[in-house]
Amino acid sequence: APADIPVICIDGPTASGKGTLAAAVAQRLGYHVLDSGALYRVVGLAAERAGLPTDEAALAAPALAQRLGALAERLPVRFADGRIWLAGDDVTDAVRSEAAGMAASRVSAVPAVRAGLLALQRGFRRLPGLVADGRDMGTVVFPDAPLKVFLTASAATRARRRYEQLISRGETASIDGLLADLEARDARDRSRAAAPLKPAEDALALDNSEQTIEQSVDTVLTWWQRSRPFG
Ligand code: DC
Repeated sequence: APADIPVICIDGPTASGKGTLAAAVAQRLGYHVLDSGALYRVVGLAAERAGLPTDEAALAAPALAQRLGALAERLPVRFADGRIWLAGDDVTDAVRSEAAGMAASRVSAVPAVRAGLLALQRGFRRLPGLVADGRDMGTVVFPDAPLKVFLTASAATRARRRYEQLISRGETASIDGLLADLEARDARDRSRAAAPLKPAEDALALDNSEQTIEQSVDTVLTWWQRSRPFG
């Protein structure tokens, strides 16, 4: 039964390093990964390609919310060899832009979109195990997960990391602009009615502001061993 398949949830705000930590932990354990944020990013992109608006005023219309929900439910997305495909297009780079992140944050507030992605996300729970990162992995998608981590870092640290990431990709960015963007995104992700960003009651908090990736990975692996005294 899926409940017997181990899941580690890593939730937290924008640019807290969830994706990097999840990938590293999954690699050490030989587990699968679910980058749930990428799914919301792909929904935003698919909406744009279908000519559907994603601004907040438009999203208030029930008919649009319903269409986006249907789009999420039949999302032709595929993860393969580190690439993300939307139907026949490689959208790996397109979904990583700041604009795609903001669009993802807006469409993710629509309950029909969240419901539409639920089965798809749970389908990633396969043997030998899964590391899932996002905002509601521990609260909504995998509430029975034996280990839930709530990862945070100071806003300044997150803005700096995002800045370095964009610059290394040859994009232009300003730290102040990124800080403003991530604070706006956090505020929306935390305050929305549907599955807001918040720690699960049984989540363990990890602030990685002053930690290397290796230190965070070791912390999570130690917690994982402790959470499974017989396995
Ligand atoms: O983790 P990310 O930056 O790729 O996520 C993009 C947006 O998608 C984020 O601002 C909120 C939304 N999201 C969500 O609502 N629930 C998740 N489990 C993951 C992401």
